[in-house]
Amino acid sequence: MATKTKTKSSSNAADKAVEEEIEITPEVKRLTEEEMSELTIEDLPGVGPATAEKLRDAGYEELLAIAVMTPADLAESAELGEAVASKIIMASKKMANIGGFVSGDALLERRREVLKLSSKVQSIDDLLGGGFETQALVEVYGEFGSGKTQIGHQLAVNCTLPLAEGGLEGEVFYIDTEDTFRPERITQMARGHGLDPEAVLKKIHVARAYNSAHQMLLVDEIKRASKGLNVKMVIVDSLTSHFRAEYIGRGMLANRQQKLNKHLKELKQLADINNALILVTNQVHSRPDAMWGDPTKPIGGHVLAHASTFRLYLRKAKGGRRIARLVDSPNLPDGECIYQVCEDGLRD
Ligand code: GTP
Ligand code: MG
Repeated sequence: MATKTKTKSSSNAADKAVEEEIEITPEVKRLTEEEMSELTIEDLPGVGPATAEKLRDAGYEELLAIAVMTPADLAESAELGEAVASKIIMASKKMANIGGFVSGDALLERRREVLKLSSKVQSIDDLLGGGFETQALVEVYGEFGSGKTQIGHQLAVNCTLPLAEGGLEGEVFYIDTEDTFRPERITQMARGHGLDPEAVLKKIHVARAYNSAHQMLLVDEIKRASKGLNVKMVIVDSLTSHFRAEYIGRGMLANRQQKLNKHLKELKQLADINNALILVTNQVHSRPDAMWGDPTKPIGGHVLAHASTFRLYLRKAKGGRRIARLVDSPNLPDGECIYQVCEDGLRD
């Protein structure tokens, strides 16, 4: 939403304009919280297209990201004068949707809306205190073949079930980065619940992501495509494979983590707006230096560890069985359960 016309072309002109007194326009003052959250850097008073471009090039897309900078740092990274940077920061602080404190009872009210999606496997549901919660981001990690994609398929099917049967009565958006989504597998699992496979498939919207940038864009596409639909689940399988393949080496790590963080924030937003469940899968890498315990560790580092509300670690066990371990949860004890992957889906 731009509150002024963007006609300036030269970078100097744009910079000069910023130097004029920062005055938040009455239109901006009257905005609702939701409208405030849609403001972009072009809405900052005095920021013309050239300055906006400099800010974008330096990686500042959001007002909040600018609001927390020091003038010296912003001036250096976006190649602006320090006085200009200072004014941009001041305006961002006034206009950014910083979010406020919410009372405990209001939070409890929001928590009351949380739904639980049943895996239809008693031991898994018990481990998760009744099922996979909405308004949460669940990370499922494990080695290749451990069954991450199978969990994604099964929960996609279950999500279409009525609430009374442990489903969420909703539609699913599935971002497939490894080309492993199989409608045939959905058909088998739908039949396993006595559902009409075609009706189930109609409620699962799949897009293949060709690289990490495309994967991030698909989240915006979900926002657009889901208008009028009751989106209850978003699956990203795998969350990290493109990021891992594209950002190689130590020098790229900070950049990768920054992008991944942004991606996760956008996914979490979908969870909050739609009262939906976000399920992401993740690979592990081995730690040859591990002296004790399991030498495997999920990739994605602290960024992912902080973003996930629940983390499930899958392992293969004897006789085709699987072990799921709840690793991180805000309100449940850690623990393990055993289940099987069968022809017609996951079973106790
Ligand atoms: P990567 O994506 O490679 O990291 O692995 P993943 O963790 O996603 O593994 P996935 O969920 O694809 O699990 C594959 C395994 O599920 C197979 O090796 C089988 O053991 C099992 N599986 C898949 N389809 C079927 C099926 O139709 N019947 C049975 N019984 N098992 C199946
Ligand atoms: Mg997989």
